Amino acid sequence: MTDFKRTLITSALPYANGPVHIGHLAGVYVPADIYARYLRLKGEDVLFIGGSDEHGVPITLKARNEGVTPQDIVDKYHGMIKASFARLGISFDIYSRTSAPIHHQTSSEIFSKLYQDGKFIEKTSEQYFDEETQQFLADRYIVGTCPKCGFEKAYGDQCESCGTSLSPTELVNPRSMLSGNTPVLKETKHWYLPLDQYETWLKEWILEGHKEWKPNVYGQCKSWIDSGLQPRAVTRDLEWGVPVPLEEAKGKVLYVWFDAPIGYISATRELTPDWEKWWKDQETRMIHFIGKDNIVFHCIIFPAMLKAEGSYILPDNVPANEFLNLEGDKISTSRNWAVWLHEYLDDFPGKEDVLKYVLTANAPETKDNDFTWKDFQTRNNSELVAILGNFVNRALVLTQKYFHNVVPEAGKLTENDLTSLKSLKSLKNDIEKSLDNFRFREALKNAMDMARLGNKYLADEEPWSVVKRDPERVKTILHVCLQVTANLTIALEPFLPFSMEKLRGFLNIQKFNWSDLGNTGLLPAGHHLNASSLLFEKIEDQQIETQVQKLQATKMANEAANAGVTPAKPSINIDQFGAMDIRTGTVLAAEKVAKTQKLLKLTIDTGIDTRTVVSGIAEHYTPEEMVGKQVCILVNLEPRPLKGIESKGMILCAQDPTGKLVLVKPESLVRNGSEVK
Ligand code: MF3
Ligand code: ZN
Repeated sequence: MTDFKRTLITSALPYANGPVHIGHLAGVYVPADIYARYLRLKGEDVLFIGGSDEHGVPITLKARNEGVTPQDIVDKYHGMIKASFARLGISFDIYSRTSAPIHHQTSSEIFSKLYQDGKFIEKTSEQYFDEETQQFLADRYIVGTCPKCGFEKAYGDQCESCGTSLSPTELVNPRSMLSGNTPVLKETKHWYLPLDQYETWLKEWILEGHKEWKPNVYGQCKSWIDSGLQPRAVTRDLEWGVPVPLEEAKGKVLYVWFDAPIGYISATRELTPDWEKWWKDQETRMIHFIGKDNIVFHCIIFPAMLKAEGSYILPDNVPANEFLNLEGDKISTSRNWAVWLHEYLDDFPGKEDVLKYVLTANAPETKDNDFTWKDFQTRNNSELVAILGNFVNRALVLTQKYFHNVVPEAGKLTENDLTSLKSLKSLKNDIEKSLDNFRFREALKNAMDMARLGNKYLADEEPWSVVKRDPERVKTILHVCLQVTANLTIALEPFLPFSMEKLRGFLNIQKFNWSDLGNTGLLPAGHHLNASSLLFEKIEDQQIETQVQKLQATKMANEAANAGVTPAKPSINIDQFGAMDIRTGTVLAAEKVAKTQKLLKLTIDTGIDTRTVVSGIAEHYTPEEMVGKQVCILVNLEPRPLKGIESKGMILCAQDPTGKLVLVKPESLVRNGSEVK
């Protein structure tokens, strides 16, 4: 690591087309926040940048579907995202957005500079155009039949049925989503960043110069570079975005992945007139926190843009994470398979730190990981409550009980006292080493080891027994415990900021600096503590059950939606319909048909007669539920024997794709025997 004066921390700008979920948090914002808090505690000069990514085709599609403007969409979600980050305590120095005027200005300036310096190549190609709406069509605006699997609703960039990446011209029978018409190919001009020209430089800069990057990041860069880089279009034929600042480019905007990372620069500009020192001084160290799907953009394309511009610094490290799954399934906004941050905050008030803790302890740093509610509960109950909360609580309660909340004086220190206190220093080193290398889960474990150390010390020393024979000694024991507790407020501050603030309140102390960690005299004898309460609370099964059921409901809704609706049957005429004699009737008696799962034997007053109908609804209705119900019954269906019972007719039910059956019945009571038509 070369010498540097300040650190610029960026976190990927989330798309403002949906709320933030635990996958975003675990991958990007929680580790970025820990890192920012750690460096600030060390007294370093830090800027932590965030903001919403408000361009891109998915946003315009969502707006179209909902019949509102793209600006409406981004206003809604930017507001939501910003507010929920603030509630969780993500300590951005600024949370900006890419629809801000300063961003339009900054990204057009950078485009213009690259244009004037001849850094782009221009290419004309043929692209699909909708003649009715007079628009070029983004890949996502074209649907057609997948050439691989025959799925009829494949998009211009991908078939969601078989997963193949496509280009729009590969689609069989392409249709415009705007008008439904067949689009035509039309020439259009775009500006490309010739990434191939940066290959040698990228090899040197990353493959030679940044071997310390995480293996998942380095590996992805290497495979991109080794497979040969192609020029990349940085403009698009779209209406929503930053307009291309060229006379001849009317109706074109900058590609979202060109403007979005410039959003980091715009946000810095919005925050401080001194922004250039953060971006153009070689003594600034820049770190990008991102998820693995963003690696190529942050390690190859954005750096190539900055390099082409010439006056900017490049990232020093890009500690990208893998993905977090939820209960064994990929998190998905469109399938609503997620734990949404704003919902979590509502459902678990005061437990912001618990979520951060669990997401860090289980962070997908080297491989994809799974979030489960059971694990969430266990980590809270067996770690935060049983290890950290338990130690702190015992130290505080015993001090209250024996010494009226005044830090007692230490007497002569024993071997165990000394080694315990000495461990604080070595744990400090462990935590630092882990954090400096972006190993957050290990760092958190090291920090929790300090609480484990406290518990072990208490178990060894047993002040509650010693007090009976040697009350003097108890002073020393609790003096030591309180020093460990004070150290915890430093070690855990980057991870559990709300809880450590609370703990500092109990201890009646201000925030210490990171350099104080390991100091064994943080709480001098005679210092008065405040009253305390529990630092963490147990999470009960009931709360977890509620969350699991919520997900279960989502799963069922998705299955039903996937099962879809069966296609329409061929048409019939009114006479064919009239041939069916459907009447209203009342169930007089009902019983299960012996040795079957599904069948009920019903006795029905049809108005015409009283007859027996055997019906396959036993898994949906009990016999008791059926008696007295008015139903619709097809009375002229040929009688047929079912399990030895002659069934005369059929009662009508609606069946959803999951197989669930519900009775079709008159909206209000009518005379039995009324015709249904
Ligand atoms: N919006 C992108 C995503 O969610 C991330 C953009 S990061 C930025 O994948 F640098 F481009 F802003
Ligand atoms: Zn397909």
